[in-house]
This record gives sequence, C-alpha cells and structure tokens, in this order.
Amino acid sequence: MVAGTERSHAILVLTGAGVSADSGVATFRGPDGLWEGHRVQDVATPEAFQRDPDLVHAFYDARRAKLETVQPNAAHEALARLDAEWPGELLIVTQNVDDLHERAGARRLLHMHGELKLGWCLACGERFAWVREMGTAATCPSCGGVGQVRPDIVWFGEMPYEMEPIEEALQRCHLFVSIGTSGAVYPAAGFVQTARYYGARCLEMNLEPSQGSMFFHETRLGRAAELVPRWVEELLGG
Ligand code: OAD
Repeated sequence: MVAGTERSHAILVLTGAGVSADSGVATFRGPDGLWEGHRVQDVATPEAFQRDPDLVHAFYDARRAKLETVQPNAAHEALARLDAEWPGELLIVTQNVDDLHERAGARRLLHMHGELKLGWCLACGERFAWVREMGTAATCPSCGGVGQVRPDIVWFGEMPYEMEPIEEALQRCHLFVSIGTSGAVYPAAGFVQTARYYGARCLEMNLEPSQGSMFFHETRLGRAAELVPRWVEELLGG
C-alpha cells in the first residue's frame, strides 16, 4: 500500500505523453525540442491552422493514422485495472489525445486536451467522432458545411476541457499521481501544487524528474510500463 493510502481514498491520476511512449507514440518534447520534426507553434496553435491548414491537417491526419498501428501498454492496462477495482473515487485526467486509455478499458477518464478521433465543426459548433483523414475539404456530418471541420484538439492559447470537474477532484483527492508528463504545459503542470495545497499526497512517475518535481512527496524514475503496474499492485494488492 502506498504510504497513507486507504481504500476509501480519492485518487486523481494525471497522464502525459510518457504513458504512451512505451506503445510507440512519440512524446511532444524530443531531445531536439521538436515534435515529430515540427515546432509546436507551426502545428498546435489556432494561428498555425489559419495560416497553413493543409500542414496542420496533414500533421493530425498522420497522428490519427498512427493510432491504428499502436496498442495500449502495461501502464494503460494497469490504470484500467485500477479504474475497475479501486473502491474509492478515482479520476484519470489525460493530456494525451490518443485513445489508448479507453482501449485498455479505463472509464473514469477525462481528455483535457481533446481527442484525435473527434472533429469539431467551426460552422455549426458540433463535435463528432472522426476516424479517417480530415483534410481541408472535410464535410461536417451535422450541418453539411465543407472545409470548416478541425481536429477537436486543444491548441496553445485555447482553454483546456473539463477544468471544472478536474479542479473539484484536485481539491478532494487524497492521492495525486502524475505519470509521464514533463510538467512544461499549464494548467496541468500546476495540478500538483493545487492538490498538495488541499492536502493530497503527491507521487510522480516519470523517466526523469519533471519540471515540477520538487512539489511531489515522492518521485519514482523509470518507464511507465514498468512503474505503473507495480504501483497499482501495491495499491490493490496491499
Ligand atoms: P512531454 O513530451 O512534454 O513530456 C513527456 C514526459 O514523459 C517527459 O518528461 C519524458 O521524460 C517522459 N517519458 C518519456 N518516455 C517515458 C516512459 N516510457 N515512461 C515514463 N515517462 C516517459 O509530454 P506532456 O508532458 O504530455 O498539449 O506534454 C504536455 C502537453 O504539451 C501535451 O498534452 C501537448 C503538448 O504540447 C497540446 O497539444 C495542447
């Protein structure tokens, strides 16, 4: 059992790109500072989309196609097991836009940065499932408008989704666990400070110390696919 954690306790898990790294999905900040060869401001801002929609669509179309070739890893599976078996409150908040948590079976899950497999029509405002290529000529299944569909991804400068329930869960949780995130992007990077302020024990699992590492009570370094199953076993088996 993780120090001080009882089975009635509320747990909030935050995941980032590192949780999917062992599945072969590229993390955002490579050693060269680039994201699959692109600067973030060229592919992940509303301004980039206005300036060069073909480039932005090609980038996300490639990311969406890649999803078909990857599988959830042991970290996703362990979190799905925790979701199924933890008797107390649990919320998994992911910054990832892949669908590996849900494919592993997680249910108590929120995507704060959107999802690759959703589209959003700027003409009518509807959001809908989108599994194929999108491109600049996509037709909205709701209003029939052409060329106004964008990936339902939260870009830099836009407001993340689900902040209200996340903020409430941060204030209530007894244990806050951050997995595979560099702690470089707010508001997620600040969650540890909120959770700690409200009294949660804070645990980080990452390949290297994150930028906010000093705010955690405990840091475990290594690959998520190894660390997370071990931690879940400690919680459920202990
Ligand atoms: P980053 O790429 O910034 O950080 C990934 C973290 O995972 C790094 O600290 C790595 O050391 C760690 N890591 C890599 N492989 C790992 C492994 N196998 N096991 C455990 N940890 C590993 O990704 P995020 O922190 O998720 O936002 O990035 C946050 C946000 O910035 C993203 O959601 C995205 C991005 O721009 C938007 O697109 C809005």
